Amino acid sequence: MSLLTVDQLSVEFTLDHGVASVIDQVSFELNKGEILGIVGESGCGKSVTAMSLLRLLPEPSAHYSHGRVLFEGSDLLTLPLEQLRQIRGKRVAVIFQEPMTALNPVHTIGRQLAEIYRLHFSELKDHEVIARSVDILSRVGISDAEQKLSEFPHQLSGGQRQRVMIAMALACEPDILIADEPTTALDVTIQAQILALIVELQRERELAVIFITHDLGVIAQLCDRVMVMYAGRVVETADVYTLFDHPAHPYTLGLLNALPRLTDTPKTLLNTIDGMVPALSELNEGCRFRNRCDHASTICDDKPRTDTLSQQHSVACWHPRSANTATSHTQSEDAS
Ligand SMILES: Nc1ncnc2c1ncn2[C@@H]1O[C@H](COP(=O)(O)OP(=O)(O)OP(=O)(O)O)[C@@H](O)[C@H]1O
Ligand SMILES: [Mg+2]
Repeated sequence: MSLLTVDQLSVEFTLDHGVASVIDQVSFELNKGEILGIVGESGCGKSVTAMSLLRLLPEPSAHYSHGRVLFEGSDLLTLPLEQLRQIRGKRVAVIFQEPMTALNPVHTIGRQLAEIYRLHFSELKDHEVIARSVDILSRVGISDAEQKLSEFPHQLSGGQRQRVMIAMALACEPDILIADEPTTALDVTIQAQILALIVELQRERELAVIFITHDLGVIAQLCDRVMVMYAGRVVETADVYTLFDHPAHPYTLGLLNALPRLTDTPKTLLNTIDGMVPALSELNEGCRFRNRCDHASTICDDKPRTDTLSQQHSVACWHPRSANTATSHTQSEDAS
């Protein structure tokens, strides 16, 4: 059952040289208890997509020009701010890419956690708030959690701050967790611990997660489904096995080929995708990957439609590469 439905979301930014369509008709669904990965190179629009879901982009320079974000029947893009605030944090929590921006430097960790518990669980007594704070800090791998309650953010290491932020997001027991590269700055053992915690919560409480990363290894380990973004558009969506075994978009294939393998001869050069993600000023209607694509032809000057390849697998490409060669050419999204 779909918990969150993003339908044709488009976001524009007003820049010095004009208006750029940074997110273009992005559609996806998130089901209860599901972990959806969003992957793509830097600048593809992963964070802007995530921030849009809760209307967190700086307005008026950002403008939600089209589409809907449906959560329990309400469109979060048009919901009055008061009601949206009830959903932010409590029902849908976000872990941001930059931990320091989310922590208040002048309050102790204990006070910041207590504020969350008091806001969302007003029935809790003081000693219960402390017990819950210690428990959630321990669960994200913070040792001497009780001691940490009386410390300020600057007294913690970068990794500890990141984990406190994850604890704060999980404290209000959200239905949806949006995690924007939450473990990129952490060492691999802590990263594994955090990923394990997310999986545990997903199983225990049917938490639904949108996990943003450019690490396909993490995607393979954690996610049920994956959405590949390129230059503000969704280019391919599939369950994780299909994406790795039968990638259809040349960009997805490029990302997978760039992964180092243990069987590679040591010190050989990694495969890279030539070229760069287009700048905002260069975005236009046709396929945005065509300048980097070996298969591009004149038809790629038109916007690719989204074709359904199988039940869970769709691709927006005029020349899909797949072992599943037959495409049904059913249009699942607006192809104009
Ligand atoms: N507030 C803003 N004003 C103008 N442009 C912005 C703003 N925020 C993001 N952008 C632009 O939108 C595009 C998408 O950025 P976004 O942060 O979503 O990328 P990303 O996929 O999250 O990349 P990364 O992997 O580096 O985090 C980029 O070109 C970025 O420069
Ligand atoms: Mg980002």
